Amino acid sequence: MMILEEISTSLIMWFFYPLIPCLLIDGVALLPAPQNLSVQSINMKHLLMWSPVTMPGEITHYSVEYQGEYESLYMSHVWIPSSRCSPTKVPECDVTDDITATVPYNLRVRATLGSQNSAWSTLMHPFNRNSTFLTPPGMEVTKDGFYLVIKLEDLGPQFEFLVAYWKREPGSKEHVKTVRSRGVPVHLETMEPGAVYCVKAQTFVKAIGRHSAFSQAECIKVQEETFPLVLALTAFAGVVLILVVLLSIWKMGQLLRYSCCPAVVLPNTLKITSSPQKLISCRREEVEACATTVLPPEELFRTWI
Ligand SMILES: *[C@@H]1O[C@H](CO)[C@@H](O)[C@H](O)[C@H]1NC(C)=O
Ligand SMILES: *[C@@H]1O[C@H](CO)[C@@H](O)[C@H](O)[C@H]1NC(C)=O
Repeated sequence: MMILEEISTSLIMWFFYPLIPCLLIDGVALLPAPQNLSVQSINMKHLLMWSPVTMPGEITHYSVEYQGEYESLYMSHVWIPSSRCSPTKVPECDVTDDITATVPYNLRVRATLGSQNSAWSTLMHPFNRNSTFLTPPGMEVTKDGFYLVIKLEDLGPQFEFLVAYWKREPGSKEHVKTVRSRGVPVHLETMEPGAVYCVKAQTFVKAIGRHSAFSQAECIKVQEETFPLVLALTAFAGVVLILVVLLSIWKMGQLLRYSCCPAVVLPNTLKITSSPQKLISCRREEVEACATTVLPPEELFRTWI
């Protein structure tokens, strides 16, 4: 009789458990187990997700456990609590740190409300991180002087990159370089002036032996050789400047000679001092001799010209 009763109770639970969110048996509310477990894995970041178990006016918590191949084969099916989600309030769990090998992992989750626990829900197919979705890497192609430079997205220590680059012209060869440094600019090669260079990259994860697709090629044009032109222009400007300065000095010398100590007898017009104006301070010994020498402004101007 007792046994029959137990069996029928289990049968009822078996049939109605997944269908009815909240069953009352012997006055105890049963929490439904979380449904729809799935793993979203992108670029070796693994997120276990499930449909939330909602109880009106209550906050449900969840616990996640995992079991790698080793645990399931050699440790009598022991389950290990996930490092980040024991417990968690949101219906998802980042299990990246738990999944440390490229082997199938079982994952399970249950809901908890106060002292009640739901049954465990297990992921339908074990998760292997080799199924992660690898996206083409984000990259930034720039130039540093005449160096072609690439900076790749930092996706974590498991990622390396294969970078392909080529000069855009008929018959040019594609070069491939493996880049292991992350998030720092890397020099690819010296570029020829006036040429266009193109770059594309893909990620490679050794732990799972897989590549992403290549990113869209990005091209960059190197300026024509401007250096000699700039040099020539600068030199020309320098020569012109020197000429101007020399000419000015020569003119100034003439001006000084005429205004301070005229060696020639001045024409009468120069001696007319309609608008007296001392010109330039002369050397000491010349001061007396020149003291009275003045030039009208129009003459001064003509001398300068
Ligand atoms: C499970 O997912 C399906 C479709 O994604 C949805 O219709 C269903 O309501 C989900 N189950 C629960 C218990 O939320
Ligand atoms: C992942 O590894 C398993 C064996 O460990 C293999 O059967 C499966 O095809 C692999 N999947 C991918 C996407 O490489």
